[in-house]
Amino acid sequence: MHVPFYLDEAEQRALLADIEAAIAAAPLFQPCMPRTGKPFSVKMTNCGTLGWVSDRDGYRYQPAHPETGKPWPEIPPLALRAWKELGLYPRPPEACLVNVYDLAARMGLHQDRDEEDFAAPVVSLSLGATCVFRFGAATRGGKTQSLELRSGDALVLGGPARLAYHGIARIIPGSSDLLEDKRINLTLRRVTMPPCAATGA
Ligand code: SIN
Ligand code: FE2
Repeated sequence: MHVPFYLDEAEQRALLADIEAAIAAAPLFQPCMPRTGKPFSVKMTNCGTLGWVSDRDGYRYQPAHPETGKPWPEIPPLALRAWKELGLYPRPPEACLVNVYDLAARMGLHQDRDEEDFAAPVVSLSLGATCVFRFGAATRGGKTQSLELRSGDALVLGGPARLAYHGIARIIPGSSDLLEDKRINLTLRRVTMPPCAATGA
């Protein structure tokens, strides 16, 4: 589900200020590919009780920043509002991955599948430069479609689209007044399974 201009301009500025404060507390780091160690072109940080990291040891969620060892900052209120309004999932998000793209950054087609609970959606918010988002089916190698994601847009990957392959083909220069030639994307995720009601655990 694509919600163009979910955040108005004032909300985009407010969310950007919160993300800048989060980055000051939890500096951007350079993730790399498992095994090969090839660096991503995107820089990352996280908010929430769990943050997604990728290094030579693999992809995983962890409670602390890989360099500072400190817990991740809190998820900004406008991001929590988006989860409540658009995610339609009864539990709060645990992770808010912050991806920062410069003009040369890309993200290859992938599935978000490091979470235990695929019943919960992934809710994404975009700030700054427009990107060309590509998405396809839940199987590799299928056809993909392109969609431009602009500053303030929300996107929900839920239901049958939860495991859709997706990626960022390119960033469009000069497309935003909020951030010159940079794009920030937040993805909110529920990571852990709810405790099993039957066992009362
Ligand atoms: C992601 O797939 O983790 C990020 C998607 C985006 O930047 O819009
Ligand atoms: Fe993703």
